[in-house]
Amino acid sequence: MQKSLSLRIGVFDSGIGGLTVLKSLQQSLPEAHFVYYADSQNAPYGLRDVGFLLAYSERIVQYLICREVDLIVVACNTVTTEVIDQLRELYPLPFVGIEPAIKPATKYSQNKSIGVLATARTLQSRGYKRTRDKYAKNFKVIERPGLGLVEEIEKGVFDSPVLKRLVQSFVDDFECQAIDTLVLGCTHYILIKPLFESLFTTPVTLLDANEAVARRAQEIAKPIIEVFQMVECYTSGSTELLEAVVKHLEIAFVKNIEKLTL
Ligand code: DGL
Repeated sequence: MQKSLSLRIGVFDSGIGGLTVLKSLQQSLPEAHFVYYADSQNAPYGLRDVGFLLAYSERIVQYLICREVDLIVVACNTVTTEVIDQLRELYPLPFVGIEPAIKPATKYSQNKSIGVLATARTLQSRGYKRTRDKYAKNFKVIERPGLGLVEEIEKGVFDSPVLKRLVQSFVDDFECQAIDTLVLGCTHYILIKPLFESLFTTPVTLLDANEAVARRAQEIAKPIIEVFQMVECYTSGSTELLEAVVKHLEIAFVKNIEKLTL
């Protein structure tokens, strides 16, 4: 395959959540050619061990390198907080990762009570704890693993009764803790942000790190030639699901959606 002159960006996640990051990236870098990989067959990553995360991330990274990407965006908090350092050591191209937006949350919170909803693996990771301890030392941080959410979201229906009940239970818990800022620390949860917004009865600011990731990617990408726009998507799971979410998010210039098992 001949390499085009455009900037090529590889993006991956355990599934469809990273498409929300792709959407932000596309707004910041409209001329780039994106290759997206959703490892839906192996989601959720948030319950996997570190060895699994590294092995599966490596497979995807190697595939993206074969596709001659110039930059890889790890659109998964779980992979970023656990193994991005190893990926950076192993592969000679720039990586941009995503982490729960703790630092911005400390700027938004008036009452110094922040909720963090992320995968169990992210909350246990050294990467996450490092950021939390650095920025939120003087805050009450209520951490909850979003158990069951990714599995439901991967079904591609973002307002199902099961999901509503699950989200309601998290909202009730966070409201009891009187948080005023909630960090959505998993890219899948951004797909159900409207559901959270509809269920909170107290004023709570919902934050994610997607725009920060897009800004960082833009900084790194600036020097690379940009010629045309294109998005290719691959999944180890359902192409219909990926296609439905691409449509739902109105991601533009998608030329190809294919099933691919690595
Ligand atoms: N979307 C991923 C994240 O941001 C992981 C979800 C999962 O597979 O558990 O952490």
